Amino acid sequence: MIEIFDSKTQDILKSLEKTQKEFWNISRVTAEFLYNLIVTSKSKNVLEIGTSNGYSGIWLGKALKKTGGNLTTIEFYDKRLDIAKENFKQCGVSDIIDTKQGDAATIIEYLPEDFKIDFAFVDACKKEYIDFFRLIAPRMKVGGYLACDNVISHAAKVQDFLEAINSNPDWENVVLPLPAGLSLAKKIR
Ligand SMILES: C[S@@+](CC[C@H](N)C(=O)[O-])C[C@H]1O[C@@H](n2cnc3c(N)ncnc32)[C@H](O)[C@@H]1O
Repeated sequence: MIEIFDSKTQDILKSLEKTQKEFWNISRVTAEFLYNLIVTSKSKNVLEIGTSNGYSGIWLGKALKKTGGNLTTIEFYDKRLDIAKENFKQCGVSDIIDTKQGDAATIIEYLPEDFKIDFAFVDACKKEYIDFFRLIAPRMKVGGYLACDNVISHAAKVQDFLEAINSNPDWENVVLPLPAGLSLAKKIR
């Protein structure tokens, strides 16, 4: 367990873990992995699709506090996003998180042209992973990472996405045996 967070953040994370199933949050081990990857890769411009109540966003935000970066996170449901905003505030990361409410594909399509990403975390509607990949790819910097959760737990729904990324010479992808299966791809050119 990462002990570097303040005790309030640790308490909030522990309490959110009790409602993990209700809000479909990632596992703690996946969260710790993403945290470490953002810190070690010194990622700064991070995009998350699927905020829910902000559990994963807190981890991403804490990592970005270390790298000096910022997070844009997108959620369809306003009520979940309201809870997430309060959790971000309580954990001291709201100043570096831009929350956007609505359909992720539409929001990404209309982001400014110079909105570039060096780390993206996708954890939303599995059938749309292929669309998210097509929208994220042109905005991703070379050397950046695309992490997608649930590629083992929802294998059939993400098959087209995995086929597309595995056959794309611009990307190197591996599937990590984290609890729901995490696809981790690096843009190599
Ligand atoms: C698995 S949960 C995200 C959990 C969160 N990443 C965490 O670990 O704390 C998926 C969320 O994505 C949202 N979602 C699904 N499809 C979406 C879309 N196309 N655009 C925006 N949000 C979407 C759902 O409303 C849901 O709250």
